[in-house]
Amino acid sequence: MSHGDEVIKLPRGFRYIASSENIKAASIGDEKRNIYGVQFHPEVQHTNYGMEILKNFLNICQENPESREINIKDIIDDIKVKVGNKKVIMALSGGTDSFVAATLIAKAIGKNLIPVYVNSGLMRDNALKNVTQIFPKLFAIKPKVLKVKNIFLNKIKNIIDPEKKRKTIGLLYVRLFEKVAQKQKNVGFLGQGTTYADFIHSKSTKHAALIKSHHNVGGLPKKMKLKLIEPIRYFYTDQVRYIGKKLGLPEEILYQQPFPGPGFAVRILGKITDNRLRKLKQADRIVMDEIEKAGLKNQIFQYFAILTNTKSTAIKGDGRFYGEVVAIRAYTTKDRMTADWAKIPFEVLQKISTRIVNEVPEVSRVVYDITTKPPATMEWE
Ligand code: XMP
Repeated sequence: MSHGDEVIKLPRGFRYIASSENIKAASIGDEKRNIYGVQFHPEVQHTNYGMEILKNFLNICQENPESREINIKDIIDDIKVKVGNKKVIMALSGGTDSFVAATLIAKAIGKNLIPVYVNSGLMRDNALKNVTQIFPKLFAIKPKVLKVKNIFLNKIKNIIDPEKKRKTIGLLYVRLFEKVAQKQKNVGFLGQGTTYADFIHSKSTKHAALIKSHHNVGGLPKKMKLKLIEPIRYFYTDQVRYIGKKLGLPEEILYQQPFPGPGFAVRILGKITDNRLRKLKQADRIVMDEIEKAGLKNQIFQYFAILTNTKSTAIKGDGRFYGEVVAIRAYTTKDRMTADWAKIPFEVLQKISTRIVNEVPEVSRVVYDITTKPPATMEWE
């Protein structure tokens, strides 16, 4: 599709792709022109009439979308068959996905489930509470908690490249789970709460491009001693919550914000030190407090702070102060594949900004990220 140099504004759901192949094709003629490929994504939430287009397509194929209702009993039966009498080490993060996956596996194999929480120091504080207080109430199984903050910080302290960071963290998680497995008899599987969005972004189908290696998919080592069991691998967030609701999980688990497995590590650009981690946690707490105080908790899918590793000039007292820029990211989405930035009222943004520059040491400026996905992913790394 060629328009000379003119770029036409595309409707929602369409996206230009200016690949080098397109450019090469364009210079074959006498005239050198810019040429643009166009991708169309009817499946994503923000495409106008996307669902209607897909429904019409299914109609033409004589398929009935209603016949694909999620069958929880089938999922549980599949786990029983796959796992047999082996034990499963379950990677718990305290988040919705691993809770739902753990529940499905627990329904299938009962006490043969060994839940493990890796306390890397990189997660929000509520994760530990979910794992140590809510989980045992629901399942009468006490998860093992591995206290490994120093190991994590030592491994990643000099890693700046986001993909390398993700892969190092993915590998570390697996090696820790394998260590737990070695101390038990008859462990055959590692259970994970991987969803389809994690899977797609990590280039796990031959048609998908690598966007980023989610720690639990593209971040896994090639050689693993345990086989994977991932009961929600083919579901998106809204479907995962639906399954969780049917399984009777509490709302505080199902409707919490997602939090990435590599945690604060992918929100600290540049070197990760204990001091920077502390500052990010402080800024993150302020973002959470103010959004929750403003009653916006249920309207925004995810909200958090980022240490940008960029410095800017500010005034403190009568003097110059050169400190770090903190960014705030908050967005709405249904399936995490596309997202819109949250239209947080200015007064709330103002409060967040004032509190962060006043309360978090060495921060000179706060900016609000107003980029949609695509093109920008939700996490900065
Ligand atoms: P992105 O940044 O890819 O994020 O737009 C989409 C959603 O996935 C979460 N995320 C991760 N979750 N492991 C996870 O378990 C990861 O490595 C990872 N990276 C991103 C992100 O927080 C958002 O909800």
